Parts: sequence; structure tokens; C-alpha cells
Amino acid sequence: MFNVKNIRNDFPIFSNQADDFVYLDSSATTLKPKRVIDAVTNYYTNYSANVHRSIYKMGEEATAAYEGSRKKVADFIKAESNSIIFTKGTTESINLVAYAWARKNLKEGDEILLTEMEHHSNLIPWQLCAKETGAVLKHIPFNDDGTLDLSEPEKWFTKKTKLVAVIHQSNVFGTINPVKEIIKMAHDVGALVLVDAAQSVPHQKVDVQDMNCDFLAFSGHKMLGPTGVGVLYGRPEILETMDPFLGGGEMIRTVSFTESTWNDIPWKFEAGTPNVAQAIGLGAAIDYINSIGLEQIHRHEQELLNYALTKMQEIPELTIYGAALVRGAVISFNVENVHPHDLSQLLDNDGIAIRAGHHCAQPIMKKLGVSATGRSSFYLYNSKEDIDRLCESIVKTVNFMGGSH
Ligand SMILES: Cc1ncc(COP(=O)(O)O)c(C=O)c1O
Repeated sequence: MFNVKNIRNDFPIFSNQADDFVYLDSSATTLKPKRVIDAVTNYYTNYSANVHRSIYKMGEEATAAYEGSRKKVADFIKAESNSIIFTKGTTESINLVAYAWARKNLKEGDEILLTEMEHHSNLIPWQLCAKETGAVLKHIPFNDDGTLDLSEPEKWFTKKTKLVAVIHQSNVFGTINPVKEIIKMAHDVGALVLVDAAQSVPHQKVDVQDMNCDFLAFSGHKMLGPTGVGVLYGRPEILETMDPFLGGGEMIRTVSFTESTWNDIPWKFEAGTPNVAQAIGLGAAIDYINSIGLEQIHRHEQELLNYALTKMQEIPELTIYGAALVRGAVISFNVENVHPHDLSQLLDNDGIAIRAGHHCAQPIMKKLGVSATGRSSFYLYNSKEDIDRLCESIVKTVNFMGGSH
């Protein structure tokens, strides 16, 4: 039985915030269960050695825990351990591909295909890369309902397309994009595909074998893990052909003053002392998610999403952006005549934390004709009562601001 009350007991923050605290900003970052906090503390308290280099028991323990986390991540997305690179987060994972794969493989006139609904972290690395290589950026548009317009694939997927970088679940609309279909179309024209899975891996089963992507990026802190750790999955045969991203210790096999050779994958891409504590914490987060069950979490979120959509649609002053049929538990909205920043502040007075802003997706805001939106996003520790509180507080705000409700 999925029991939110019990789940909330696993998150110390609920004891440390006010009793009526409602957290609806998990798309930005999630709260952390005690199990994750304990795993990080345990590393620092009991065996905080460096990894891969210390020939003593504590060092071996640290290495085993760090590499054990890699295996947990690999199992979680159905990959092999050597295809899992620990990074700082989704942003760094995407930059790794942009520097270590794209700059070497793209030339003038090649096309990088993105979509109009990308997060800044899947736009800017490609803008920088296009400037340096002469590659051309193209963007698949989105429809009014927040789904991708894939009606003219031949316009987007051409012989010039060399890389497709696409968001799996939109952090603004919640839309879950048909990535398998996109990957098939990309592979048919010989392009590689990077999937930005920052918003999907924490909430639904992602199987890189089944998806058949070439790269997949996500962040630990959005899936109950610590900040400062993320993952890049890369197809091993592609990783083997790539030059390193950063140079330094750990990523080498032999070094002379003028030349060096590289370590095996994935360590070739992990220069310097890695984020050991954070990676161990991410492993604990995966253990925790597995103990609850990702499918159960997904089902709970979908129930909350449907409940919230119904309740929110009853507020006439509220506009919801996006209406995809296949979507995650994220709702972006605006309230008539209330700036989202003011709304967020007034909700905060009632103990409710939502996100207000452009959600690192300024081009989406521009196309929607707004400067910002409010956004509520749900995770395993949220309940229908949280949504009732959100809606009551929105109605209160409407009335306070002189609305008609
Ligand atoms: C879809 C998406 N991609 C990328 C990112 C960037 O993640 P990070 O800041 O952890 O690197 C986010 C974070 O909000 C996101 O929602």
C-alpha cells in the first residue's frame, strides 16, 4: 500500500518545517530521505577516503561504495556500468557530450536538431558548439497543447542531421515526448540522440536499451539524491571513440611531460577526485526509490496530477499551459492579473512552496507570450490535501487581488 504519511516520515525536513508545509517544487529539486542524508554522513563520518588510489581498507571501502553506486545507477536505467559517467548534473552531462563528442564530430553545415521546449541547459551548450563548429541549429516546434509538432519529420530529420538533443519530459508542460519514435527517425538518417531525462528518470521507468538512445543525462538532486551529482549514460562504443572532456588525475593510464594515454571508460571522463559522497548518496536514493517502487510512485503521481488538473480547472481565473495526454506530474499556470512572483509569495505566506519564473526556458515563455508562470510539481511525498491547500490559497489570492471568484 502506498502510504504518503509513512513516506513523509522518511523525510526529516517535514519535522523541521512548519506542520502545514506544502512542497510543490520537486521539478526544481526534491527533498531528501533520511536514508540519503545518512549515507552521505556515514561516508564522511566513517570512511571518507579518496577512491581508486588508496591501498588501505578505508580507501577500498570508499571505492566499493562509489563503484557500487555506479552499478545501482546502471541497473536503474538498464545499462552496463561502464556506460555510466558521474558528473555534476544534467547540465554538465550535456556539456560533456557537446565538448567531447560534438566538437570533434561536427563540421560546418551539419545540423543539430533540438526542440522549442528545451531547458536552457540543452540549448546553450549547442549554441556554443554551433558557433565553434559552424553547425546549424534547428528546433522542432511545439503545438498549443505543449506537444511536439512532428507532422513533417522530413523537414527536421535530414541527411545533414548529425545530433538530435531532446527533452524527455518537459519541465514546463509536463509533456512526455515520444523519444523512441524520435530516436528511430534520427537513427534512420544516421544521427545520434541525446535525451535530457532530468525530469523523467526520477518519475518513470527509463530503459536505455529499449529507448535505444546514444546518450542520456539526468541529475541526482531531482531524484531524492544529493546536489552535485548527475549522470551521463553513453553507448560504450561511442564513449570509446571520444576524447576526454576534462584532463587531470584519474582519467589517465600513462603520463609523460608531453603525452598521455587514457584510462578505460567510464573513468576516462571522470578527471580528478570525483563527487564521492554525492555519488554514494545517489546510490542510497535509488535504493530508497526501489524500496517504494518506481511504478507505485508513478501511479501515485498520476493520481495527484489528475486530481490537481480537475481542481485547478475549476478556478476560472487560472490558465494552465499544456494539455498533453501523456504527461508527468508538472503543471504550469498563471492566475489572471496576478504576477507569478506575487502569487508565489502569497502562497508562501500560507506555507506552500511553488516555483515561479521562466523555468530556465525563456524561449517557451516567449512563444506563450508570458514573462513567467507559476509551476507546481508533485512527487511521492505529496498528497491530495497538498493540492486542496494549493487551490484554496490560489482562490484566496484571487479574492485578495480583487478577482471575481
Ligand atoms: C529538463 C531539464 N533539463 C536540465 C536541467 C538542468 O539540471 P541541473 O541544473 O541539475 O544540471 C533541468 C533542471 O531544472 C531540467 O528540468
